[in-house]
Amino acid sequence: MMPSEVREVQWSPQWSQLSELIGERMGLYFPRERWDDLQRGLAGAAQEFGFEDATACVDWLTSAPPTKAQLQVLASHLTIGETYFFRDKQTLEALAGNILPELIRARRGHEQRLRIWSAACCSGEEAYSLAILLHQSLPDLRDWQVTITATDINARFLHKAAAGIYGEWSFRDAPAGLKERYFNRTADGRYAIVPEIKKLVTFAYLNLVEDVYPSLATDTNAMDLIFCRNVLMYFTPPQVRKVIGNLRRTLVEGGWLVVSPSESSHALFPQFVAVNFPGAIFYQKSNAPLRAEQRWTPAPLSESAGYVAPATETPLPWAPPVRPAQPSPALPPEDPAPAETSPAPHAVAESFYHQGRYAEAVDTLVASFARHAPDPQAFSLLARALANQGKLADALAWCDRWIAADKLDPAGHYLRAVVLLERGDPEQARSSLQRALYLHPDFVLAHFTSGNLARSRGKTGEADKHFANALRLLRGHEPNDLLPESDGLTAGRLTEFITSMTTMESSP
Ligand SMILES: C[S@@+](CC[C@H](N)C(=O)[O-])C[C@H]1O[C@@H](n2cnc3c(N)ncnc32)[C@H](O)[C@@H]1O
Repeated sequence: MMPSEVREVQWSPQWSQLSELIGERMGLYFPRERWDDLQRGLAGAAQEFGFEDATACVDWLTSAPPTKAQLQVLASHLTIGETYFFRDKQTLEALAGNILPELIRARRGHEQRLRIWSAACCSGEEAYSLAILLHQSLPDLRDWQVTITATDINARFLHKAAAGIYGEWSFRDAPAGLKERYFNRTADGRYAIVPEIKKLVTFAYLNLVEDVYPSLATDTNAMDLIFCRNVLMYFTPPQVRKVIGNLRRTLVEGGWLVVSPSESSHALFPQFVAVNFPGAIFYQKSNAPLRAEQRWTPAPLSESAGYVAPATETPLPWAPPVRPAQPSPALPPEDPAPAETSPAPHAVAESFYHQGRYAEAVDTLVASFARHAPDPQAFSLLARALANQGKLADALAWCDRWIAADKLDPAGHYLRAVVLLERGDPEQARSSLQRALYLHPDFVLAHFTSGNLARSRGKTGEADKHFANALRLLRGHEPNDLLPESDGLTAGRLTEFITSMTTMESSP
């Protein structure tokens, strides 16, 4: 689009409507002074939608609520796919030299599990950089349950990410030797990430502004580390606050949120403890903020800390709240008093849960069991609140308790399966899912999770069958119907999720 054409646009009220709509549905901030940028992006989207000019396209887009498919096209033209391997070296140095070693030290020998999310991953360079760092930091990686989830709003970027093939430009600030060690040369001179790293990362569509997280169903819960870099800067201020709040709920206690240096701000992260490293600030979730004298003083890093050197095992100068050793909440009495009619404790616990105050939700529920026999809703909320804190052994114990109380409730078996998957026990998870589906063959989420599990075991036919079943069952729902046991996932959203996932796989 020529600059002269940009100036010629007559700004109809629809432009204002569109800028609001884009802010609400995608978070992207296009105030009046950025309408030229909006118009430039719209010109490409208009072509893809079959319009000759952007103005006609704007009228059409604002005439009815846009569909997800339309939003995806808009996203691909309005967002900037600027990313590269080992972006912001100092951030990755702090991660490799300080954060990862401490996380690993705290987990080694008991719960060997790490959960990482690259939110707004673009074409995957960030997620693969994290996978490479983990690979270097964990010589016994295969004995760990490592999850790296990478999501973006832009389906085109996700396709490229899933393919894992990159040109020279993606390596513009990469450490020497990276390409040789972690990539294979393709026939056309590009670089394909080696399978050993590729298989560590799972890509999925997720709109940070509209989609539900944390959610066990979509594996966006109990994260130790979230990288959400160079995206909040494009969002409207209310959406920034909302997204930061949701990301915080997605972290375990002691987990870390990483934004880009230019997005760091004391004002935006008051609920986090800001920890300074040379050239990088990490935000730690802590319900009990550290005192000033407990704050982190980083040790000097070796030159190669960001890339070659496996992290040193120097303990941090404060006790990390990564996995506090707390006793399991007491199990309910064997013969509890008959249930009372007041639903109050459950409502209170649910409210704590939705605020991300999982420990308080657990305490409220457990305290209520002295007077109310736990019902399926209470079991479910309790197990999910524990799982969202990363307390998987406790979550599993409560699922077992639930199943002992009612073997025929498919939801108990389903939740047990999801917890087992997070613990890295696919075999047991599979048998729990089979039980859930035996008891309730139309259990949409059980089909979805079974499909994911089959896919991860390379059983494509079985996975396709489960996804087809889930899609068939979802057609019987209204798009806005909430799916049970899903933390607020709607039927429409799961349909899109499965569809985008299966098309991502089938495309070359
Ligand atoms: C500049 S890239 C950042 C990539 C990477 N995180 C990095 O720092 O190198 C911004 C990404 O944000 C994505 N994005 C924009 N709005 C989004 C939303 N509402 N939800 C999820 N991703 C979004 C874009 O598609 C784009 O891939």
